[in-house]
Amino acid sequence: MQISVIGCGYLGAVHAAALAVMGHEVVGIDVDERKIADLSQSRAPFFEPGLPEALTEGFAAGRLAFSSEISEAKNATVHFIAVGTPQKAGSNAADLTYVFAAVEALMPHLKPGDLVVGKSTVPVGTARRIAELIAPTDARLAWNPEFLREGFAVNDSMHPDRIVYGLADDGNRDELKQVLDAVYATPIAEGAPVLVTELETAELVKVSANAFLATKISFINSMAEIAEATGADVTELADAIGLDARIGRRFLNAGVGFGGGCLPKDIRALMAHADEIGVGDSVAFLKEVDEVNLRRRAHVVSLAAEMLGGSVAGKRISLLGLSFKPESDDIRDSPALSIARLLSEDGASVVATDPEAIENARRVLTTVEYADSVESTVANADLVILLTEWKSFVQIDPSALSPLVSAAKIIDGRNVLDAQRWLAAGWDYRGMGRYRHE
Ligand code: UGA
Repeated sequence: MQISVIGCGYLGAVHAAALAVMGHEVVGIDVDERKIADLSQSRAPFFEPGLPEALTEGFAAGRLAFSSEISEAKNATVHFIAVGTPQKAGSNAADLTYVFAAVEALMPHLKPGDLVVGKSTVPVGTARRIAELIAPTDARLAWNPEFLREGFAVNDSMHPDRIVYGLADDGNRDELKQVLDAVYATPIAEGAPVLVTELETAELVKVSANAFLATKISFINSMAEIAEATGADVTELADAIGLDARIGRRFLNAGVGFGGGCLPKDIRALMAHADEIGVGDSVAFLKEVDEVNLRRRAHVVSLAAEMLGGSVAGKRISLLGLSFKPESDDIRDSPALSIARLLSEDGASVVATDPEAIENARRVLTTVEYADSVESTVANADLVILLTEWKSFVQIDPSALSPLVSAAKIIDGRNVLDAQRWLAAGWDYRGMGRYRHE
């Protein structure tokens, strides 16, 4: 099939490469010419394991191209809209400017019978508006939310755990389903379940999945707060409740909370949209989810002050991790960046490292020093704080770091270090809602 993918960010670039690997002829289109130049040479414009290889495979098969010209979409019969829907400045709502700009730019190139497929995360009701907008071209619309995780994006795209088609129940459903079944023939053959819903349900599936994940994380972080106040241990608690199959252990890791380009903005957009349509009370709890999450960042800063005798001012604090999660160089709404900013505002001298995100962080945060290795980051530190659970940090040998620091004190912001090992090596170890060892 000939497919165009409009928008080559984290979502679109991976989707385009994955579709080419699956055997389709794909053109990825983006207004950012630098991004297109990178992708055209199999270079991923961001760190995503497996993406350069998928791009190379797509090019080698002669099935992949990238362009900054929307007219290059003209030969495709299926067009994915994969542009970003960031949080609007000064508001909680989603900014749909890029979605509508992409649809409008695409419209002159649509042929009767083409299928436009929305992938971007949008407030419920957006799909219907787009369907009306494109109606004069006689192209049709489907909504097909994407559930890929950064860091696992290629694998998630190739082997999704479910595929959702939002299709208006207007008599064309079976025909459109067949087109999408052909697009996803490979994962369907591997057994990926397909769910067909109305457009509104498909849009809501996406935001509610992210809202649920965010709620799960804030729930366990609330328990971390209780554990901190009572002497319980939230990791043991998560293991125990997670064994109940109805609860499940995944996404119950307490720590500095969630960040990234999706969970925080998606819960805010859901609240804003629910308010707008008069059902704000239904998701009022998400305000607490957001607040618990942001409180974790402030908590790390107060814990740092407590461990340093009341204030961080004038102290050298080393941060391990800048990205919002490992295997990603994405720093959007990263807890690590907020914490770095708060510590410098309080007068600490902050030095940070990250295997992939330093360049991105440097662009937005200039009050901290950046170092290339763990050793140079922790040199003469009064306190070390682990903020992103990169494997290379989790595997650090505490006794090798002891001679380098001024004081052997560590906050494990992700509860991933072996507390006993760090304590045995003479470190004052503090986790998030974990047993306190004097
Ligand atoms: C999230 C969803 O997991 C994807 O399914 C979805 O497709 C994507 O958003 C999207 O909307 O595009 P992602 O933002 O890549 O994916 O990251 P997650 O793996 O969900 O992690 C989000 C944040 O939660 C990270 O900061 C992570 O450190 C944090 N987290 C995760 C915790 O603090 N505790 C946990 O137990 C799990």
